[in-house]
Amino acid sequence: MNNEILKIREQFPILNRMVYGKPFAYLDNAATTQKPTKVVKRVSDYYEWENSNVHRGAHFLSQEATVAFEKARTSVSQFINSSNSSEIIFTKGTTESINLVANSYGNKFLKKDDEILITRMEHHSNIVPWQMLCSRTGAKLKVSPIDFSGEMIMREFEKLLNTKTKIVAITHVSNSLGTINPIKEVIEKAHDAGAVVLIDGAQAVSNLKVDVQELDCDFYCFSGHKMYAPMGIGALYGKENLLDKMDPWQGGGEMIAQVTFDKTTYNEIPFKFEAGTPNVSGALGFEAAIHFLSNIGYDFIVNHKDDLLNYGHNRLAEIAGLKFHGTAKRKTGLISFNIEGVHPYDAAVLLDKLGVAIRTGHLCAQPTVDFYNVPGFIRASFGVYNTREEIDLLCDAIEKVKEILS
Ligand code: ALA
Repeated sequence: MNNEILKIREQFPILNRMVYGKPFAYLDNAATTQKPTKVVKRVSDYYEWENSNVHRGAHFLSQEATVAFEKARTSVSQFINSSNSSEIIFTKGTTESINLVANSYGNKFLKKDDEILITRMEHHSNIVPWQMLCSRTGAKLKVSPIDFSGEMIMREFEKLLNTKTKIVAITHVSNSLGTINPIKEVIEKAHDAGAVVLIDGAQAVSNLKVDVQELDCDFYCFSGHKMYAPMGIGALYGKENLLDKMDPWQGGGEMIAQVTFDKTTYNEIPFKFEAGTPNVSGALGFEAAIHFLSNIGYDFIVNHKDDLLNYGHNRLAEIAGLKFHGTAKRKTGLISFNIEGVHPYDAAVLLDKLGVAIRTGHLCAQPTVDFYNVPGFIRASFGVYNTREEIDLLCDAIEKVKEILS
């Protein structure tokens, strides 16, 4: 293990835990990453020393909390290079961000027979909100196919784009296959067809440097908890001209300008989309996670994840009877597979007992898993603190699983 990784691991006490009396390997980072001490401390400091509601009080603590909360918004804006921090709306996470757009933009601008185009590799959170929007408006959901390597088939995507396509919603990185989609090309083609584009960035932001201006996407959604920040905080980026035109999704405090019983007028962006008391501690933890990632730097992160991916693929390929799902040319540190003759749930139970935490099942991407005609995947997904030694532990554990269950 090199020094850099050792220094990173020191910031995650949980990685030293024993599970069932053994050291364990946490390889379920696509589900959620662990949190570094600085993130945890930022949250507890807020509650110990700064707790107060934001944008509401005239008193010292409230003003201090408001400044800190808005500074966190600026950090998120800089993190993805949005042109203005008012384009950043704090949400619970990717799921809420997508639902916000489906309700707020979708309800206002979509009508019967309009089309929403997604791909076969979407997470449920980028399928179900659009199905719900279709049932409210009479719009139609179209699905662009993928091939068995787990890549989009671009000519099929282009065939599905037409003047009725109003929204293209696509994942940047697949949570089940690890594929990095060519979203810049997708965005250009969708814009040429007159559609707005929403990117599900849940699995991307901890792996790749994202620049929303360079991408020119209309909406970009992501979660804190998959990038070393607390659960229950995330962001929606939206282009200012679109957010301005959209109606609020939820009503309540903070999102208003004036309220009378006859009429309510709304606050400006981003506040008109943030009804109620926000997750202030989460936003501060989010900011601390951004600092954590920035201190490491994306050059290191990308190289290290590539190394784990290549090492993992090579080591796992030495084990007879493994079938891989998702072998796209551009991938992040995530490997999905099945063991011949072993049900993925049985494998997961035994791997857990052997000290390896992976995810199994449909991975919240049932249509993708169904495409490969298996009852579920076994998925190992790597964080910036993972090591080759932990991949060796996974491989040894798989050999034992095979011995016991095959
Ligand atoms: N979306 C998360 C996953 O892929 C929960 O595991």
